[in-house]
Amino acid sequence: MSLRKKYIVGNWKMNLTMQAANQYMLGLCQFMQTQRELSVVVAPTTVMVQSLHSHFGGRGVQFAAQNLHWAESGAYTGEVSARQLSGLVEYALVGHSERRQLFYETDDDVARKVAAALHHQITPIVCVGETAAQHSQAQAGVVLSAQVAAAFARVPQGSASRVILAYEPVWAIGTGKPAATDLVAERVAAIRRWLSTRYGQSAAAEQTVLYGGSVTACTCEAYMATPGVDGLLIGGASVQLSDFTEIITKAIKLRQS
Ligand code: PGA
Repeated sequence: MSLRKKYIVGNWKMNLTMQAANQYMLGLCQFMQTQRELSVVVAPTTVMVQSLHSHFGGRGVQFAAQNLHWAESGAYTGEVSARQLSGLVEYALVGHSERRQLFYETDDDVARKVAAALHHQITPIVCVGETAAQHSQAQAGVVLSAQVAAAFARVPQGSASRVILAYEPVWAIGTGKPAATDLVAERVAAIRRWLSTRYGQSAAAEQTVLYGGSVTACTCEAYMATPGVDGLLIGGASVQLSDFTEIITKAIKLRQS
């Protein structure tokens, strides 16, 4: 079994009110009292981060920002910088496909955001994945290499393992149609081959790679058991606490078996 740490990351997206988030976190921290096998991370909307961090920080659940801006400060209305998030979150999602598609985030933005996150001791969780059209035109390999290259464009040798990658095929996100596990294994292996060429074999072997896209409590075990996959990035099934804790429970059981 790989020695890489295992992760369950919940991306709440633009869901839950502050009150609902507090209830959720109360329950999740209680549940986590007896679990320490996996790193459990939730990504609340930015407005909730500070309050959740002060009430629930250090109680077995870590926090991620859903996005950040690469500049230190300045005239960027509506944005939040890595510097401002520093100390409140341990992780930040970067380049989620919804950011790329709906908010026109580019590979260059992703590269800058990764650098800014690392500079402020925030671990970037960089999402990469092909669209349905790219998938059907057999372009996934090219797209993934370009996205992974961008993710690491500003990451110096020796710091690669400070970045987490999440393979999230766009066509699998929020569609109820997750990618087949053998396809996921193949794509994750291709990502590691790219890393091996750039940073060497041992860096590639140390790299944490998650899978995301329509994972539910029913399918989570299959993805956790997929070769090369170190954890899950979960959207829809993380919004209800009971679904999320069921996924964590199953992932832990699998690890112990
Ligand atoms: P999903 O979202 O689990 O709802 O498909 C995953 C994600 O957006 O990271």
